[in-house]
Amino acid sequence: MIYVSRREVFSASHRLHNTELSDEENQRIFGKCNNPNGHGHNYILEVVVAGEIDPKTGYVVDLKLLKTVIIENVVKKVDHKHLNYDVDFLKGINPTTENVAIGIWNQLVDKIPGGKLYSIKLHETENNFIEYRGE
Ligand code: NI
Repeated sequence: MIYVSRREVFSASHRLHNTELSDEENQRIFGKCNNPNGHGHNYILEVVVAGEIDPKTGYVVDLKLLKTVIIENVVKKVDHKHLNYDVDFLKGINPTTENVAIGIWNQLVDKIPGGKLYSIKLHETENNFIEYRGE
């Protein structure tokens, strides 16, 4: 089994807020991410595909095709958008990095053009990132 990764970047704003909690508690839990008008992050997305090498091409997956799938199904929908309002696959979801990673997984899992989706890694800051393997 070989693991192939494609990295993409996007910028988006979000607001983390749970309407069932008080304003004070939201502020305590979500901090800067609870800013009433949202705020932005420069996200780094890593899509990892696992599979066997195709003897004809020597590839697990054609990275040009994988790039196009990620751009069309994820990056175009989230880049320079507000994750709470603008993104069809995140409607009604509190856009934590965890929830956005799961949304991205669901967008891509049945569209991978070779091998199969192994994990989604989503970096929200330089030091914080999430990994989801569909389990
Ligand atoms: Ni934030």
